[in-house]
Amino acid sequence: MSDTSRQILVTSALPYANGSIHLGHMLEYIQTDIWVRFQKLRGHNATYVCADDAHGSAIMLRAEREGITAEQLIDGVRAEHMADFAAFQVDFDNYHSTHSDENRELASMVYTRLRDAGHIATRPVTQYFDPDKGMFLADRFIKGTCPKCAAEDQYGDNCESCGATYAPTELKNPRSAISGATPVLKESQHFFFKLPDFDAMLKSWTRSGTLQESVANKIAEWLDAGLQEWDISRDAPYFGFEIPGEPGKYFYVWLDAPIGYMASFKNLCAKRPELDFDAYWGKDSSAELYHFIGKDIVNFHALFWPAMLEGAGFRKPTAVNVHGYLTVNGQKMSKSRGTFIKARTYLDHLNPEYLRYYYASKLGKSVDDLDLNLEDFVQKVNADLVGKVVNIASRCAGFIHKGNNGVLSMPASEPKIWLAFQDAAPSIAEAYEARDFARAMRETMALADIANAYIADKAPWALNKQEGKQDEVQAICSLGINLFRKLVILLKPVLPKLAADAEAFLNEAPLTWGDYDVQLANHTLNPFSALLTRIEPAKIDAMIEASKEDLAAEAPKAAASSGNGELVKAPLAAEINFDAFAAVDLRVALIEKCEFVEGADKLLRLTLNIGDAQRNVFSGIKSAYPNPAELEGRLTLYVANLAPRKMKFGISEGMVLAAGPGGQEIFLFSPDNGAKPGQRVM
Ligand code: MSP
Ligand code: ZN
Repeated sequence: MSDTSRQILVTSALPYANGSIHLGHMLEYIQTDIWVRFQKLRGHNATYVCADDAHGSAIMLRAEREGITAEQLIDGVRAEHMADFAAFQVDFDNYHSTHSDENRELASMVYTRLRDAGHIATRPVTQYFDPDKGMFLADRFIKGTCPKCAAEDQYGDNCESCGATYAPTELKNPRSAISGATPVLKESQHFFFKLPDFDAMLKSWTRSGTLQESVANKIAEWLDAGLQEWDISRDAPYFGFEIPGEPGKYFYVWLDAPIGYMASFKNLCAKRPELDFDAYWGKDSSAELYHFIGKDIVNFHALFWPAMLEGAGFRKPTAVNVHGYLTVNGQKMSKSRGTFIKARTYLDHLNPEYLRYYYASKLGKSVDDLDLNLEDFVQKVNADLVGKVVNIASRCAGFIHKGNNGVLSMPASEPKIWLAFQDAAPSIAEAYEARDFARAMRETMALADIANAYIADKAPWALNKQEGKQDEVQAICSLGINLFRKLVILLKPVLPKLAADAEAFLNEAPLTWGDYDVQLANHTLNPFSALLTRIEPAKIDAMIEASKEDLAAEAPKAAASSGNGELVKAPLAAEINFDAFAAVDLRVALIEKCEFVEGADKLLRLTLNIGDAQRNVFSGIKSAYPNPAELEGRLTLYVANLAPRKMKFGISEGMVLAAGPGGQEIFLFSPDNGAKPGQRVM
């Protein structure tokens, strides 16, 4: 194209190697892939690298539970991730692993350079240690009783019941979520990256057009509050890289994870001689470097990472592009509702290009969350892709094949239409460049509307029945096919498979942005076959059902989830006799009212009918029931003789029973139909 070719290196965040890819992840990989495909279509030298993030204690523990080595686990997961991405047409130039030789070497180099430049400090840290397992416990592997509200079974850093945050040492009756043992305090030497050394650099870098404004503002709050040194070491046993010269000390997973971007690129350089590592990562690099990430990992990418790069003598990112979180039908993805949809489950039921288009149609530059509303999804894909775009080709192709042996004639001259298409292209390119895909899709569909209106107005099907109008029919339909071809080019970053099929039909080599201005005439088409079919709503229902089954097939529910979303077995409590059990007065209760509690993050207020009386109960289940009204009218189980508890928001009289690790996975118990409020549970 007109601008000279740019050297662009692009990354998406490296997904953890301990779980499957889901539609939330896919938002990011599709967003990045569209942007990279657009750059390549424009003739730029864009390279897209990624990798699995393979280190950390969560991965070590999961491998242990499955009775395999960590290497076996990460190899299997990486293969699964790559298959999912390929099926969604996410076209990485390289997909590596952070557990690789390149990453070990680069992580050592970065660390050694930081250390030699005086940016590493060491000092002892006292932490909980599991004496049975022989390992230090991260906060999420410690459970105990909340020091503020006495709720049991809370994690080491915050209480899901009252929302309090605290140090793990403040928990009452702490125990290891891994072995059940009572942890002991133990001291050990830790290594710290001296982030405050980079305060001035970060203050200017984060304000130099590298971040969206709202992200820069958030970072400014952290910068104003004062930067802390960052603990980058973990003690053995740990799955990761040992720190050079420090036996038994490992790099914390987040130290070597972003270095994995460099490692993946380095691995690619060995396969593609024309790529030069230093030309992209060296201090004076003129290449552009973009990281696409979700809003939850901004601190790692906009504070720690540029500081590490600067301190180790590498270039810093051109920009960090942050997106929001995916919700499904207006709520957090939920396993119980079947909206926690794995990439593979989606692929079992639906064409990946539907989702690529839907995400594109909703993605802008903002950090706002994005909703996959499944009804809207069906409606939009069917109306736009099938009803507007593909429809043009299917209306016109038949006439050209039957009336002119599949040869396009000179297209009808329609200067207004032609001009509208010519004028729109630069604006659409600008929208893609700025990651405003929603605008790119809107403007493209406006062109599709123009093309459809033209064909509807000319009605070639009617003309074709008239004597002597055959040339006109061919000219109209040849223009129609040319307009369709332009739409295909505009949509190619989003719909690579549709574009490839259209290229086969158009009998053309892979189209680039530069081909947009060309007009096809006296050109032979290949036979037309349906390019995309409508989404049948039944497929959506089947996908939701299958997502619920996914859940049933997963680990048993005597398990708790860590902050990383992986499962840890909750140890069984000590044995009790029947009398101890019978001392608990369990009743059937009818939830008459259920509402938010102002100022409480986790709580819902329930008004229970327990037969002859009403009870007011606060319950920390809001994360799983963001729409409290849905609980009204439902029966549940209630501990009637629990001592009332005074809370910040009022008195809680007893508690309702639920299972699950927390977050979206809290499952309120219900008796079978026919149970009456007040009946005793035995
Ligand atoms: N391993 C780290 C990233 C290391 S990058 C050096 C990690 N992995 S992750 O698997 O949890 O997430 C990978 C990416 O997917 C992150 O950018 C994250 O924000 C994004 N998403 C994960 N769940 C998401 C949604 N529900 N919605 C949108 N993006 C989501 O973080
Ligand atoms: Zn609490």
